[in-house]
Amino acid sequence: MSHATVAPGDLRPVRTADGSFTLRHERLDEHYHSVHGAVRESQHVFLRNGLHAVDLPRIDLLEIGLGTGLNALLTFLATRVHRCTVHYTALEPFPVSIDLLRSMDHCAVLGVPDARDLYEEWMMGGPGVVIPAGDGFHFRRLDQEAGSITDANAFDLIYFDAFAPEKQPGLWTEEMFQRMHKALRPGGVLVTYCAKGQVRRNMVSAGLQVERLPGPPGKREMLRARRPKEVRA
Ligand SMILES: C[S@@+](CC[C@H](N)C(=O)[O-])C[C@H]1O[C@@H](n2cnc3c(N)ncnc32)[C@H](O)[C@@H]1O
Repeated sequence: MSHATVAPGDLRPVRTADGSFTLRHERLDEHYHSVHGAVRESQHVFLRNGLHAVDLPRIDLLEIGLGTGLNALLTFLATRVHRCTVHYTALEPFPVSIDLLRSMDHCAVLGVPDARDLYEEWMMGGPGVVIPAGDGFHFRRLDQEAGSITDANAFDLIYFDAFAPEKQPGLWTEEMFQRMHKALRPGGVLVTYCAKGQVRRNMVSAGLQVERLPGPPGKREMLRARRPKEVRA
């Protein structure tokens, strides 16, 4: 699928079942989150089964697909409560416009209007700039594509939040999960809302240990993968 096909251009905000907003990509016929509840999906897949499954005082986190920044915002709010340090790196080659972000107003929906300035700084600031938020949260956005990731042993957690495999098959291949395996530290975790059999097999072929977990509302299952810890001889 060409980049022109997934680049934003015909996006519109849609209210989801829990009252929070997502974007609908008309040309792609795809939403950025589940219409059964954007916040509920994000909390379940990425926070409950991702962030809270990593028991480290400092977490280096990579997100594939920053989109509307909802996962980043919820992770920031979680660090305020759980007192861990998160270094958040989000990839987004197709940033969403400030007007669209304001029309969804995640900060108001989440009851944290005081976080709005910080959130807008993350979303609109220059790529590569590290923005410390206090509460142990450090954010940086990169305009890099997932396919160009070459980091090794760099992350404890990956939020794999690309568009669905039917829409962007190139992001769900064995080769892509080899990159993710390499980017993770031993014992590191990757979570995604997707539970497709072929995706799971591609993860396994790339050397990841994969478990199926109950999915968020509207989805039976999701996947959590782990880079195995190295066994010392
Ligand atoms: C399902 S949405 C992500 C939703 C987002 N995590 C949020 O909290 O709003 C998928 C995102 O992946 C981005 N994307 C598309 N191609 C990509 C690529 N090659 N590498 C990284 N991200 C990509 C899209 O622009 C879109 O923002």
